[in-house]
Amino acid sequence: MSNKLFDIPIINNIIRYEETDSTNTRAKEFGNRGSVNGTLIIADCQTSGKGRLGRSFTSPSGTGIYMSLLLRPEINVSLVSEITLLAGLSVAKAISKAVSETISSENSHNVQIKWPNDVLLDNKKIAGILTEASFDSKLNYVIVGIGINVNTPHFDDELVHKATSLLLSCKKCFDTSEIIYDTMKYFNDYYDIWICDKNLSGVLSEYNSLLNSYNKDIYVIPHDITKGISNPYDIDTTGLEPVLCMGINEQGELICKKADSSTEIVRSGEVSVRGKNSYAT
Ligand code: BTN
Repeated sequence: MSNKLFDIPIINNIIRYEETDSTNTRAKEFGNRGSVNGTLIIADCQTSGKGRLGRSFTSPSGTGIYMSLLLRPEINVSLVSEITLLAGLSVAKAISKAVSETISSENSHNVQIKWPNDVLLDNKKIAGILTEASFDSKLNYVIVGIGINVNTPHFDDELVHKATSLLLSCKKCFDTSEIIYDTMKYFNDYYDIWICDKNLSGVLSEYNSLLNSYNKDIYVIPHDITKGISNPYDIDTTGLEPVLCMGINEQGELICKKADSSTEIVRSGEVSVRGKNSYAT
C-alpha cells in the first residue's frame, strides 16, 4: 500500500512507526529538520495522541488510523485553518466510500462533518483532525494530523455514546490502508483546487452539504467556557443564545444568523460549536 500511496502526487515521502507518542510531534520534528513537502507519517499506535484544545486522542494499537501529513504551502498563516476543513472533507468522503461499499437494503449510514475538525458517522465521532503550523522561520510548515477509528471494538463508558468506529457501525472490519489511500487521494485533489483558488470556493457546496449543523440551531461556545472540560458535550449552555447555522463561507468561517436577524461570523480558533437539540449537531 505504501507504494500505491506514492501514486498520489502530494505524497513524496512515507515514514511508518509501530508505536510513537504522536505522529504530529514526529511530523513537527521532520518539519523543523527540513523534510520535504508531502511527508506522511503513519503509526499503528500512539502513546500520547493529541486532540484539539489540549485534549487527548485515544490511539490503541492496530485499530485506527493515526497519521500526519507535513506540508510546506506558500501561503499566509491566516489560511492554515482552511486546511483543516479540506482534511475533514477528505476523511468524510473516504469514510462515505468505505461505508457505501457495505450498504445493504437493511442499513444505511450517515457521514457528516462537525465543523471545524470532526467527522461523524451516524451522529457519533469517528475521526478528528488536528492541524498545527509553524510560520516563524524559513522552514515554514503545516502539519495535518488525522485520527480515524476504524476497527475499534469498543469505547469506554465516557465515550460510548459519543464515539464510533467503522467496525461498530457497519459490523465488519475494514482495511485501514484503503482508507488511508482514499483519504490522501481526496485530500490531494481538494488541496490542489484550494492552492489554486487560495480560498474554499471550489469545495464550498460539497462541504456545506456534509455539514451536520447546516440550517440548524447551534450554540457557539467561547473557549474560556470550555476550558478544563475534557468532553465538549458536557458544557452547560444555559444563558447562551442559539444561532442558525447557514454553512461556511470561502474562508471556512461559520455564517450564523442571530435571533435579531443579524449575522455572526464564527472563526474556528475561537469557539466550540454544539447543536441545540443534540450533542452531535
Ligand atoms: C480531535 O479530535 O480533537 C483531533 C484528533 C486528532 C488526532 C490525530 S491522530 C494523528 C495525529 N497525531 C496526534 O497526536 N493527533 C492527530
